[in-house]
Order: sequence, then structure tokens, then C-alpha cells
Amino acid sequence: TQGPLTDRFGRTATDLRISITDKCNLRCTYCMPAEGMQWLPRESLLTVPEIVRLAAIAVSDFGVREIRLTGGEPLIRPDLEELVAALTERMPGIPVSMTSNGIGLAARAQALADAGMTRVNISLDTLCADTYEKLARRGRLTQTLEGVAAAQEAGMSPVKLNAVLMRGVNDHEAPELLRWALDHDCALRFIEQMPLDADHGWTRKNMVTAAEIREALSRDFDITPDTAPRAGAPAEKYLVRERGGDTVVGTVGIIASVTEPFCEDCTRTRITAEGHVRSCLFSHHETDLMHLLRSDASDRDIAQRWRDAMWVKPRAHGMDHAGLDSGDYVQPDRSMSAIGG
Ligand code: GTP
Ligand code: 5AD
Ligand code: SF4
Repeated sequence: TQGPLTDRFGRTATDLRISITDKCNLRCTYCMPAEGMQWLPRESLLTVPEIVRLAAIAVSDFGVREIRLTGGEPLIRPDLEELVAALTERMPGIPVSMTSNGIGLAARAQALADAGMTRVNISLDTLCADTYEKLARRGRLTQTLEGVAAAQEAGMSPVKLNAVLMRGVNDHEAPELLRWALDHDCALRFIEQMPLDADHGWTRKNMVTAAEIREALSRDFDITPDTAPRAGAPAEKYLVRERGGDTVVGTVGIIASVTEPFCEDCTRTRITAEGHVRSCLFSHHETDLMHLLRSDASDRDIAQRWRDAMWVKPRAHGMDHAGLDSGDYVQPDRSMSAIGG
């Protein structure tokens, strides 16, 4: 069963994203309801050896080249350091990264780097403490900022920052966020909000578009598309100059999943916290690998099941036409946190 993980539309998955928990210590409005969710029971979560086994299959059979740990919030798992160490020991040279909200990272960044974590992406939607409270509904801005600093001190660079802009909440902060990222040596990406919130409160009207983000940034900066190849990365990269200036002072990314979709070049395969393959963020189906992991199935059986699941990956998410307003687009019944961003 050796060979790339391909689908009907000719795409190859080289990036593995594994959600290691559905729990989170924040309640970002675009992701989770205020009251939280029905969490998976502990015994339904993948264990460290199970995660390592799946990752090893992906690397050796499918040629996957990067492992990203997601959640919920990956730092919720006390055995995260142990997991990272086990992954790097089993697959030396394969980068292991994480997407996190940064809460609690300050205390663990060095241990994670020592275990072999190469990079972290941290959600930072605002620089205003009150807005953070309104948006994340738990935690404090300073905890996230301390997490960013600790990750950098531990050598996990460049730290990428993810900012989801919401109209009337934090969209006016776009230039300030970029200024902060440039000053702190972080790679900032603005993300169009996707309809994956548990409250189903997303509307096209309240989504801040990539075009609006570019417009907002142009108040303080000149941004021009970077012509370097994008290679499956969701972020469109831009070179940043001070307004009217000549020198490039940095870059910024915009992840325009809704208005400028990149499904055609998608290189992702996902595993949920309970061990299901999800071929796309927007799939309506998942394929259970957990029952194989917990039976006497061979690596070959697991690899084959995974391949079958990816083969039928949807062509696109369907948000890119009138679909959204006409009701053609059907939001998956799992929210972002339960899928693993
Ligand atoms: P690197 O650039 O390799 O660090 O990773 P990344 O940008 O893929 O990772 P991250 O987990 O930080 O994801 C950033 C954002 O990209 C997420 O918040 C999503 O909004 C978006 N994203 C990630 N994966 C997908 C995907 O498969 N489809 C779509 N449409 N958006 C995605
Ligand atoms: N749309 C876009 N991005 C989202 N994230 C969470 N929910 C959404 C959404 N509905 C982002 C977070 C985090 C990453 C894991 O996913 O900002 O950075
Ligand atoms: Fe937690 Fe991330 Fe969802 Fe916020 S976006 S509630 S930090 S999983």
C-alpha cells in the first residue's frame, strides 16, 4: 500500500493534521458556543501510541512530510510533550507543529521545543484585553502574548499568528495587528471567518473578506502579492512596505477560504480526536480508523481504509458561489473545534 494519498481530482495529501482533543479552554465566538460542547469521553480519544502509529503510517506509506497537532486546544493534553517526543523519535526529520491559542504555552514552550516541536501557530485576534474577553470569552490576552514570547525564546520560529476578523468586533484592528506582528517578528495571517461556528451565526454579511482586509491594511501599509509559489499553503502571501515606502518591512498572509478558495491545491488529510479520517474541513462523512486501531487490524488495513476515505474527498467546499445564500451550502454538523482547525 505504499504510494501517495490521492483523490479523484488528482490532489495529493502531504500534510497531516491530527486533532488530539476536542476540548478547549476558550470559547471563541466563531468556533464554540459559550457553554462549551459535549466533550468526548477520555477513552474515545486517540492515545499517544495510537497517534504515533497513524502518523508513522502516513509518513512511511503515504510520504506525508509534516505533522500538525490541532484541537480543540492541544495544550489541554498533559501528555503533549510525551507525544511530541514519541513522534520525533519515531520519525526523525519530520517537522511536528501545533496550532494553539497560546494559553499555558509560556510554561511549556521550552519542554515542547526540547521534545522536538518545530513550530507553533497561535491565534491572536485582538490586542485589546476587553475585546479578547468578548471574543474568546475566557482566558486573558496577556496569557496568549506570553505564550508567543515563550515560543520564540524556545526557538520555535517563526511563530505564525492567526487572526480571524469579525465586523464591528476586531476588524478595525487589522493595521495594529500587523504592526505588532512586524515589531515582534511574527508571521501574521488574517483569516476569513468560515461558517463552522457551533452557533450557526455566520452570515456572508458579517464575514470580513480578503478584499476588505487588504483595503484596511492600506491605511498604513502598501501590500503587494508575493510571487513566490504558494505550494498548497492556504495563505496568500503579500510583501509589506510602509505606506509610500520603498523597503519591504515584512510579509503578511491572507487566508481567503471563502472568497478566494484554494481547494484545488489542498494538500491536507485530517484525523479527528476520536480517530476518524476527515478528508476535508467541510466533509459530511468521516471514516472510523479507531475501531481498526483497537482491533487486530494491520497497518496495511488501516492504510487502505485511510486511502479509501481520501479518495472521495470533496472537490470543493461549495461556499464559493451563490450557494451560501441559496442554501446549497450545507454546514457540516461539527464545529471547528470538534474537527480540529
Ligand atoms: P502552516 O502555514 O503550515 O503553518 O499551516 P496552516 O496555515 O495550514 O495552519 P493553521 O492550523 O494555523 O491554519 C490556519 C487557518 O487556515 C485555519 O484557521 C483555517 O482557517 C485555515 N485552514 C486550515 N486548513 C484548512 C483547510 O483544509 N481548508 C480551508 N478552507 N481552510 C483551512
Ligand atoms: N473560521 C476561520 N477560522 C477559524 N478558526 C476557528 N474557527 C474558525 C472559523 N469559523 C481558526 C482559529 C485558529 C485555527 C485553529 O482556526 O483562529 O487559529
Ligand atoms: Fe478554542 Fe481555538 Fe476554538 Fe478558540 S478557536 S474556542 S481557541 S479551539
